[in-house]
This record gives sequence, structure tokens and C-alpha cells, in this order.
Amino acid sequence: MPRMHTYDDETEELARAIVAYARARIATPVPLDGPAPAEELARRAGPTITPEGVGGDEALRVWAEVLAPSTISTDHPAFLAFVPGAPTKASVLFDLVISASSTYGGSWLEGAGAVWAENEALRWIADLAGLPASSGGVFVSGGTAGNLSALVAARHAVSAARPEPPARWTIAAGDTAHSSVASAARVMDADILSVPSDVRGRLTGPALGDALGRADTDGLFAVVASAGSTNAGTVDDLAGVADVCAEREVWLHVDGAYGGAGLLAPSVRPLFDGIERADSFIVDPHKWLFAPFDACALLYRDAALARTAHVQEASYLDSLNATAEWNASDYAFHLTRRARGLPLWFSLATYGTDAYRDAIESVLALTRVAADEIRRHPDLELIMEPDLSVLLFRRRGWTSDDYERWWRRLLDAQVAFVQPSSWEGERVARLCFVNPNTTIEHVRAILGTMV
Ligand SMILES: Cc1ncc(COP(=O)(O)O)c(C=O)c1O
Repeated sequence: MPRMHTYDDETEELARAIVAYARARIATPVPLDGPAPAEELARRAGPTITPEGVGGDEALRVWAEVLAPSTISTDHPAFLAFVPGAPTKASVLFDLVISASSTYGGSWLEGAGAVWAENEALRWIADLAGLPASSGGVFVSGGTAGNLSALVAARHAVSAARPEPPARWTIAAGDTAHSSVASAARVMDADILSVPSDVRGRLTGPALGDALGRADTDGLFAVVASAGSTNAGTVDDLAGVADVCAEREVWLHVDGAYGGAGLLAPSVRPLFDGIERADSFIVDPHKWLFAPFDACALLYRDAALARTAHVQEASYLDSLNATAEWNASDYAFHLTRRARGLPLWFSLATYGTDAYRDAIESVLALTRVAADEIRRHPDLELIMEPDLSVLLFRRRGWTSDDYERWWRRLLDAQVAFVQPSSWEGERVARLCFVNPNTTIEHVRAILGTMV
């Protein structure tokens, strides 16, 4: 039997080492770490891909001593850049099980148990958003894949209903929509009608109505609203946008990749009113729903309609397509798929949904305390009150270069990982909270360096 596929003594030793490494990684605090130049990594790691192999022990040593320290810990409580991750312990552990089980999540025939569990988690999210019984979907790799798949379904629905295609297809979105919406438009060879946002960076119903009133909307097939913008964490006027979409009979896609987790938090739930009218909706468990990379929950109001856009047909798939069973692959642009919703399902089953609500509320509470801290600081100025868990603020008198030096200094000193952003053309500081282990002390340590 080939050695690679045999569980022998050597494999047993490697299994122990790997499990011990994984256990230590989630049991003990980890450093932030940070990138190193490729030449340095090559020199320190040495050749790793060789005809004979370097052996599992050596490969694990290289990972632990050279590569892992050059890979930022996105779950570190002082990682407040971009959108951090903060997977629960149970979700990480179950991710190991999924790999060990070679779980195939594409079809009911092959993965019924896995797909059933993923659908439980999707149903829970659909209920939080108030989507009807006809809704359903699938977990895809991330918000970018989710937005693309939803928009492909939207265009499919519209194009099936019209005799001829328009000169150009168009997606309307707020000017603060995530960059993946423009990326989806490029992939689909569609245009973006960028609608000016309000003073808080929100797409509103009146602004959308105005913009559509002035534009050629023959090829308009979807409006994208954000339920938690990436830059400022603000939630668009979902009810107002839904009114305009209903009037014009246009597909409403709500991008809650980052902010959708706020649906669970009573203190901010009213901001999401109108989401129940979405035709499609995404939220990334790998962001603020505490699952490991990579997972985006993609839901459609009418799952059957979305299936017509994405189902693949071929003789070798006939037995899958001949049944009414739920083939998860049919709901997005993919075929083979990891059952990447299972870590969320397992963690929800382990801890219960109340624990999720409480963890999200705790992050919102910390954001508000951090906002107070910024307001009290003589040199800092909060740009706006937070809707969710992002803070944008300026350090009076700082230039772009100051912000650049600041984040590098914080990472070099292993104090925090932050990234500046921009607001109305001005370079500003930005903190994004999703990790319930982040404390006000972490924030104070960061603010203390803005002197
Ligand atoms: C609002 C929003 N949409 C989409 C995305 C893209 O998600 P992903 O990076 O998982 O592709 C992000 C990522 O931060 C986001 O914040």
C-alpha cells in the first residue's frame, strides 16, 4: 500500500504532533505576528518541496517556527484592521472534523447529513432576517462569491422574463458598497449605477429613487444595499430602498457580509428593518458570526428561482438533477464544495443562539465605550457615531504619512494590527471590532500611541 495513504506508526506520530499543535493554538494566547520578505522566508524555510519529501515533522517545524510567525493571527484581540475573525473554539475544532471526514457538501446524495445541518444554520439566519419559507441557499467561500452568485441569479430572473437583452445590464448600488460589487459587475460585464450616499455614507430610498429617475434603467436588474458598510459600519436605509425596489419591481440584494450578524442584537436590530423584503441576502460567518475562514451564508427569497440560474446540467449529473433533493451546489457558482457551513452549525448547536446574541452585544458595547474614549481624547475626533462596530476617527494634525507610520509602528511593537482608511477624501483611523476578547485596554493601548 502506498505510504501516503497508510495509517502507520509514522502517521500516528504525525497525528499526535498535529493535534497537539492545533490544541495549543486554540488553548493559549498567540502573538499577533507579521509578514516577512519572501527572500527571508525562503532562506529560513529552505527547500520544502523535494522529490523525497522533508517529512511531516520537519514540515510542521518549518510551519511552526518560520511560516506561522509570518502569518498574522486574525483572531488576536488586538487585530482591529479590515474585518477581523474570531472563531469559537467549537467551530475550529469541528473544522478539523470536516477535513478528516472528506465531507462533500455539494449534493444530497453524497452529503445529506452535512447539507441538512448546513440548512439548519441557513434557516436560522433566514428567520433572523424574516425571510419566508420559500427561502434557502448555500454557504460559499466569502462575501465576494456570495454577492456575485446573488447578482447572477438576479440577472437570470430578469433576463428570463424579457424578450431581448438590454444594450447594457446595470446594477445600482450606494457609492459606499463593498468593492466586490464592482468586481461582480466586471465579471458579469454589467455597469454600476453608483448612487451618492448620505452624510453617514448610507444609501437611502430617496437618493436611490432620484438616481433611478435620472438614469436609463432599461437594463437595471438589481439594487445592492449594505447592511453594515465595510468602511464605516453603517446600515443603509433598507426599508426606503426596499420601497423603491418594490415600486420598480427590481431585485433587492442586501450585502450583510460584515454587519448581518447585527440581526441578532436587540440594541441594533431596528436598523435592519426592511431586510425581510430582500430577494437575496448574504452574511459571512467568518466575520462577526465567529466561524473559521471561509464561509458566507447566501440566501435567496425564492430558492427555486435561484436554482434555475446556477444548476449545472450534464449526463454525469443526471441522477442528482432527477430528484427534488436539496443539492447545495445548485445555489451558487460552484460544483464541488466544502461543507463550510458546518463549523457554524456545530458551534450554534454547542453554545446555543443566546451565546451568539450576547457575544455580538458585547462587541457593540465595547465599540460604544471605545467611541467615548475617542471623544474624550484631546487630539482625536470621532467622525460619526457608530451604527455597528466600526469606528472612524481623525488624529488632528496628522497627514497620511503619520497614519502610515502609526500602523507600522503598532505592528512592529506587536501592540495591535490596525489599518487607516479614508473618509470624504481625508486619511483617517479605523478600528473594526468583532472579537469578544477585545477589551478597552487593547483600545487604550492603541489610542495611547496617537500622540
Ligand atoms: C460588506 C462586505 N461585503 C463583501 C465583502 C467581501 O467578503 P469576502 O472578503 O468574504 O469575499 C466584505 C469584506 O469585508 C464586506 O465587508
